[in-house]
Amino acid sequence: MVKIAPSILSADFANLERDIRRVSDADYLHVDVMDGVFVPNISIGIPVVQSIRKVTDMFLDVHLMIVEPVRYVERFCDAGADLVTVHVEADTQENIHDAIDKIHAKGKKAGVVLKPATPAEAALPFLEKAALILVMTVEPGFGGQKFMADMMPKVAALRKLIDEKNPACELEVDGGVAPDTCKACIEAGANVLVAGSAVYKAADIPARIQELRG
Ligand code: DX5
Ligand code: ZN
Repeated sequence: MVKIAPSILSADFANLERDIRRVSDADYLHVDVMDGVFVPNISIGIPVVQSIRKVTDMFLDVHLMIVEPVRYVERFCDAGADLVTVHVEADTQENIHDAIDKIHAKGKKAGVVLKPATPAEAALPFLEKAALILVMTVEPGFGGQKFMADMMPKVAALRKLIDEKNPACELEVDGGVAPDTCKACIEAGANVLVAGSAVYKAADIPARIQELRG
């Protein structure tokens, strides 16, 4: 079954608890952390994850768009993340391995993220220990951008690699996922869809979440 992960980047941060409750029909809650260096935007960090943890039992999918994430992954785990994903472009291969090991030592799930220009093969060194691979379908940094349909061959290539090497690994897409683009993602082999604006701009949020399941 396809899982939906609403991104709170499109929520009203002054009414975050209300906006988390509005997406309680979904599977994961996607939390975008941006440092203004890895991406040209700044969002939220550890204290906000702590506060979110206190008001929901939803599975917290924390997407770190920060440089050298190994410095902070343990603190995001302690704050209440269930899954922490780190960008393969954000540090050396050795340090990304180290970040994954630190997340595992905290008893949490770890995943890796690929920017649009990063090939599928960049996930290979981490595939056997990743719980999830995230393929960006926009340039990371902002909600509400146009879906990059040309990422679908990469999603399909990763689906094949995952089926061969680690079938339990999930395959997530993030950026521009909406009723008109979700089916292409699912057909290419994604099983977790992040959606920010498509969920939060909908008049009927539960119906929209259902619609995105394809
Ligand atoms: C972008 C973030 C996304 C963003 C998606 O850097 O990683 O999670 O919130 O927003 P939409 O669904 O509006 O493209
Ligand atoms: Zn994200």
